[in-house]
Amino acid sequence: MEILNTAAALQAQTETWRREGKRIGLVPTMGALHEGHLQLVRAAAQECDAVVVSIFVNPTQFNNPDDFRLYPRLPEADAALLAPAGCTALFLPAVTEMYPQSTVLRFDFGALEQVMEGAHRPGHFNGVATVVSKLFHLSRPHRVYFGQKDLQQVAIVRQLIADLSFDLELVAFPTVREADGLAMSSRNRRLDAEARAIAPRLYQGLQLAEKLVQGREASPAAVQAAAQELLASEPALDLEYLEVVDAQTLQPLTDWQPHRAVAVCLAAHLGGVRLIDNVVIEG
Ligand code: PAF
Repeated sequence: MEILNTAAALQAQTETWRREGKRIGLVPTMGALHEGHLQLVRAAAQECDAVVVSIFVNPTQFNNPDDFRLYPRLPEADAALLAPAGCTALFLPAVTEMYPQSTVLRFDFGALEQVMEGAHRPGHFNGVATVVSKLFHLSRPHRVYFGQKDLQQVAIVRQLIADLSFDLELVAFPTVREADGLAMSSRNRRLDAEARAIAPRLYQGLQLAEKLVQGREASPAAVQAAAQELLASEPALDLEYLEVVDAQTLQPLTDWQPHRAVAVCLAAHLGGVRLIDNVVIEG
């Protein structure tokens, strides 16, 4: 596995692969890798001839400076995990490499970003769209791999790909969970023992919502209220939002739509760490 630190080195490498007719897979990450990331890398290695994994804690997508400062950074440990998973090139740029000058371009994803993460983290998806576009241009992948834990991010990137005619296929993978149900996340490393013991409660709230959505008997508002009530019974959990939405448009539901998948999405603060999770229920 090669480690590339500059945009020019990544471009040169991916241009060579393209000339050789190789199919390129890209797995964009911010590092502190876990099994969820590694499943994406293994899938990319199976489906592509060369796999680029980027590790870049992207400052432009953090609306909270403490979250950026405290985001776990473990490049050596990450590199050791990546080679056995099938990564061909690890792209590990400095901030000045990705942002030699400050960006002025602004993305507007309309209704898609006016809910949930977009509503609660101003500028977040602008930063994601900026860095993902740069990574697409530098690595020119045939396929790009994302985890569905960031459901709204997947929807935003899908829109970005369509609107800017990026010639690549987005592959979304289901959320990978710990044995007790907690969605794997790089931020889980920041949970202390007490918070870690409480964290699976989030998935319990989502599972309750999932069961109720499957029955389609309670209204979306009643499903939301039931899950919120379960989570409110844990005083250490500070729920930021819990929404019952259409899984594609991500707009809150007032009623069930026939044959449409539903998503229940949440964000919560626990022991100073912000966690997100979701479940998708097929229509
Ligand atoms: O999901 C992430 O880790 C980040 O948002 C991404 C896609 C790597 C962009 O910085």
